[in-house]
Amino acid sequence: MNLKIFDSPEALAEAAADELFSCVKEKPASILCLATGDTPLKTYQILVDRSIANGLDFSSVHFVGLDEWVGVPSHNSGSCAYFLRRNLFDPLNIVEDRIHLFDAVSPDLNSACTKMDNLIAGLGGIDLMIVGIGMNGHVGFNEPGVSLELNCHVIELDEVTKDIGQKYFDERIQLEAGITLGFQNIMKAKKVILMANGLKKADIIKRMLEEPISERCPASILRKHQKSCTFLDSPAASKLSPVIARVSSSN
Ligand code: PGA
Repeated sequence: MNLKIFDSPEALAEAAADELFSCVKEKPASILCLATGDTPLKTYQILVDRSIANGLDFSSVHFVGLDEWVGVPSHNSGSCAYFLRRNLFDPLNIVEDRIHLFDAVSPDLNSACTKMDNLIAGLGGIDLMIVGIGMNGHVGFNEPGVSLELNCHVIELDEVTKDIGQKYFDERIQLEAGITLGFQNIMKAKKVILMANGLKKADIIKRMLEEPISERCPASILRKHQKSCTFLDSPAASKLSPVIARVSSSN
């Protein structure tokens, strides 16, 4: 795993947008899996603006969902689906048959998981994932203690996730479970970029990069991925020991 530390959140967002732009330019039929959340928002805005300005063609790209709140329909403004439509799919005019998100209101969530696993396999695997890291180290909804052997699955949410997740919703909502790609899916992606910015992420980033790799901090598993990279701004990197932080300048 590589590590890159940027001077500002803007530089971090630019770099992640560059990765997405280049991926689609080089492989117009890329399979992308993009996280929701505050962290990647600026990246998506830059990507949309730059893609429109340069006429980048997204018509052959497939978008695969990373996760969703179980029981929350896609028209709810707090859903991951709503976030992706508002910030990416609508501005980029992505057609419906290229968008593959979890059906989190399905009466048969296990089938929804199998459907996603089969879809990803059928598309030939994910080319590029952009993920964030939760305050508890989760990636998607792979919560602390998750089995690393899982493909797509339904999981009981960690208390930290239930609490912080309220920020996406207009009104307080009962959040109990998530549906998510598992580490078996994530580790098979051709490239994974984990982004984090701000001082509030400094402690969990230190755990992710310095503690022994373990499901206690699920994001640490990405250290085993050959083509993963962690993109941090300097506040998020500020608690790393000098020896770890130095790795970034050698890349
Ligand atoms: P955030 O969420 O980008 O809003 O901090 C990250 C996450 O929970 O994965």
